[in-house]
Amino acid sequence: MPGKIEKDSVTGTETTGHEWDGIRELNTPLPKWWVYVWLASIVWGIGYMVAYPSVPYGSGYFHGLLGYSSRSHVAHEVAEVDAKRDIYMKKIAAEPFSAIEKDPRLMQVAEIAGASTFANNCQPCHGQGGEGRIGYPALAAGAWIWGGTLDAIQRTVTYGIRSGDPKARDSQMPPFGKSGMLKPEQIQQVASFVWSNFYGHPTKGEDIAPGAKIFAANCAVCHGPEGQGNPAFGAPRLASHVHLYGDFRAAIVRQVTDPRMGVMPNWNQRLDPATIKAVTIYVHDLGGGQ
Ligand code: HEC
Ligand code: HEC
Repeated sequence: MPGKIEKDSVTGTETTGHEWDGIRELNTPLPKWWVYVWLASIVWGIGYMVAYPSVPYGSGYFHGLLGYSSRSHVAHEVAEVDAKRDIYMKKIAAEPFSAIEKDPRLMQVAEIAGASTFANNCQPCHGQGGEGRIGYPALAAGAWIWGGTLDAIQRTVTYGIRSGDPKARDSQMPPFGKSGMLKPEQIQQVASFVWSNFYGHPTKGEDIAPGAKIFAANCAVCHGPEGQGNPAFGAPRLASHVHLYGDFRAAIVRQVTDPRMGVMPNWNQRLDPATIKAVTIYVHDLGGGQ
């Protein structure tokens, strides 16, 4: 029941006139600072509604005087990142590897661009982490057929191997069996020598001396007298635990009889030079780079 509005004798503040069981309500004014903040937020709210997309109507909405949309905002940010990336990729194309390696930003961009290029183009053959599989060499193992320096990898990726590109890396192992250069018995002997001496699987009681002689006469010219390989003509290191055609004696016999020659596409038709450099840096850093 509304009562009389009067001054409270203790605080000197007016009452609201409301009274319950003798308790009367004071009409304490809001603090000034609070009122100003409240008014300011109303003004700001109206301004915001006018400037930015706000009130919905029918099938559309009021777009705001600034023409802002979150989509155009994202597009703008993406364009900015692309422009920055372009600048870095141009630098990567222009600078020698020695300069790129000294610039952490360029290295970062190269690693990111290289990783996605590798996943899209190289992974199907060389494996997710460059671990390779039979017929497709490991790129992370440091057992390079054609060389593992940045320049060597760049050349391999650009022109390919036996790809048909005029600058492709190329070489052929002679078909010793098919051509009759070695008799089946000699092939078994040389295979035993390679399997035992280089692949590291000695067979007890087996005489590898005849195979050693055949190797020295026919194979050492490419694979080296110690089976160390020769990147100049892509002859793999045989004295190793990483083998292109697998760690099997039968693979050695097969290769000497009727050799398989791996083909790697040339990427100069499909990737621009900067991207090839980026993927080269990525491959070099997989763990086997020289
Ligand atoms: C269609 C399968 C295939 C694809 C795709 C492929 N490669 Fe290869 N790559 C090969 C084969 C096969 C060889 C080995 C050729 C040989 O026997 O010498 C090879 C060899 C290489 C070598 C030389 C390795 C060494 O030991 O010297 C490098 C480096 C290489 N590839 C990088 C790449 C990169 C980078 C990509 C992606 C841009 C790629 N490859 C895509 C099949 C492929
Ligand atoms: C003209 C050079 C040349 C000569 C001579 C040669 N090779 Fe090869 N050899 C190669 C090349 C090149 C490859 C790589 C094939 C490929 O990349 O697909 C190879 C591959 C191999 C491999 C497979 C290695 C692996 O990692 O899986 C074996 C084993 C091998 N040779 C054994 C021999 C033996 C044994 C002889 C002698 C009877 C011989 N080679 C003579 C060039 C030669």
